Amino acid sequence: MSVKIAVIGGTGVYDPKMLNNLSREKVATPYGDIEVTIGELSGKRVAFLPRHGAGHTVPPHLINYRANIWGLKTLGVKQIIATTAVGSLNLNMKGGDFVLIDQFLDFTKNRIYTFYDGGERGVIHTDVTEPYCPELRKIIYNAAKELGYTVHPAGTYVCTEGPRFETAAEIKMFAKLGGDLVGMTSVPEVVLAREAEMCYASISLVTNYAAGISPNPLTHEEVVEMMTAKSEQLKNLIAKTIENLDPDRNCWCQRAVSGQSQLGK
Ligand code: HPA
Repeated sequence: MSVKIAVIGGTGVYDPKMLNNLSREKVATPYGDIEVTIGELSGKRVAFLPRHGAGHTVPPHLINYRANIWGLKTLGVKQIIATTAVGSLNLNMKGGDFVLIDQFLDFTKNRIYTFYDGGERGVIHTDVTEPYCPELRKIIYNAAKELGYTVHPAGTYVCTEGPRFETAAEIKMFAKLGGDLVGMTSVPEVVLAREAEMCYASISLVTNYAAGISPNPLTHEEVVEMMTAKSEQLKNLIAKTIENLDPDRNCWCQRAVSGQSQLGK
């Protein structure tokens, strides 16, 4: 039985404790090996991959995004539920709220954004009008509502290069451009998932108000603290989503490159 669902855990989400019958698996990719934990939930097989490594040892700008997505594709994954810690620029999105981001503004500077570098695989221009799978977002939204959690159905995520936090002036600019939230990891992860014709949605958890809005200097500790405080809810939300998810669903994301993606093979 192949693994059709994956969870990519962000900051504060390192432990696949919502899964049963765990096993570890190493997957070889052209970009290096990845290690995932595979388990079961609601009769479905699920792969778990902590984006920053098990002990948060890999910073956002050094994550091997291509290996992660390629490795999940090799396992047969069709749907990815990612988690991200975010700062908020939008006073309506408060600490502890979940947001199912629907758009991004890319302010990263030095990453590899594509599997298609010319050569054998050619040149592909992938549509990202709606980068986060609307169907998967809807399922997560309904699961959050079912659980009675505070959830926003949409939001624009500004992706910064990190690992530093932002200046107050940068945050002011991002707010003027329409950003709601700021984080360091969603790009290029979501784009590579689309190139690999996988559904991808992110559960963003607001951990702090962004620089210049927060009355205090920002710390990684406050981010981790909020993620820890909300870890039970996040775990429940992921579990309920997986329970409600049809792993054989084949939506538009899975034909984004005309169903021609040879990635992960
Ligand atoms: N900025 C960038 N990334 C973040 C933040 C922030 O304020 N909070 C959590 N991740």
